Amino acid sequence: MDSFGRHINYMRISVTDRCNLRCRYCMPEDGVQDLGHGKILSLEDIARLTRIGAQIGIRKVRLTGGEPLVRKNITGLIQCIADIPEIDDIALTTNGILFPAMAEDLKAAGLKRVNISMDTLQEERFLYITRRGGLNLVWEAVFKALELDMHPVKINVVVIRGFNDDEIGDFVRLAYIYPLHIRFIEYMPVGDLQFWDPDRMVSSAEILNKLQADYELTPEKIVAGNGPARYYHIAGGAGSIGFISPMSHQFCSECNRIRLTADGKLRGCLYAKQEVDLKAALEQGASDEELQELFFAAIKAKPAHHDMGSGWGEQNFRKMYQIGG
Ligand code: 5AD
Ligand code: SF4
Repeated sequence: MDSFGRHINYMRISVTDRCNLRCRYCMPEDGVQDLGHGKILSLEDIARLTRIGAQIGIRKVRLTGGEPLVRKNITGLIQCIADIPEIDDIALTTNGILFPAMAEDLKAAGLKRVNISMDTLQEERFLYITRRGGLNLVWEAVFKALELDMHPVKINVVVIRGFNDDEIGDFVRLAYIYPLHIRFIEYMPVGDLQFWDPDRMVSSAEILNKLQADYELTPEKIVAGNGPARYYHIAGGAGSIGFISPMSHQFCSECNRIRLTADGKLRGCLYAKQEVDLKAALEQGASDEELQELFFAAIKAKPAHHDMGSGWGEQNFRKMYQIGG
């Protein structure tokens, strides 16, 4: 339990800061310096730290990036995590590009669920926003995940005014036809701020208001993987839609997570600077007990809440792909 009575049972693990796409809101086109081998945790270290997390109450793990599937032998890591008896849920957040080719192996290794990012359903727009393209592979990833019964299959859509806000209805129809959980995410000033503009942020309330004119939406409580999203069932539909509203709502009081960065820092909050350096401790030969203490220190340092909604974006700050989204 942290200093504010929140039970911490969920660890997000960023396995790499690298990515095979260059989404405009996240990374600049050029000049992205990746951490390099010496700076990132080995898979063995990640597995060990996850075991230690499990000893102090972590039950759910999500692998993130950058793009987690570009990390070599990620399947092996999933297998190691699946072997930890306390961990009952392993999920992955991916841009989908490499997923179709790896899906069966990932599932066999013990991966339960995936969140796939898909900000647009239009090929030219996808090429524009990702600067790389490959929407057909993302589609394949979505259907592969459904085919392999990796339910609930969640789709992340960062809503950006003037870019994809006219596609919201198309995404809703997707959730109507298929058992997909489409999550509209408020655009945050956490990535490459060259693309950020406060006017580009579309609040969840604005989307919901518009949708309620066309669809009968009823709030839904339970979608596995309790996170900050609020879900709605669409009358007669197969899936649901959800909203992740970091800009307009604070869900900090229900936050149950800690984050392990690719370079081995443990963070209590995506938006706060405090980090505990586990990699340095590992290099100094720390024992399991010592590492456990560092976990407690990170959990203790977890702030009550962030204040990103109030002009926080301009700070010089680690980027989202460096922390793990
Ligand atoms: N604002 C909102 N969401 C973002 N993501 C990445 N950068 C941002 C941002 N600036 C999303 C990704 C992915 C999820 C992990 O976070 O698109 O779906
Ligand atoms: Fe890669 Fe995700 Fe960032 Fe896009 S948003 S560049 S897929 S890490």
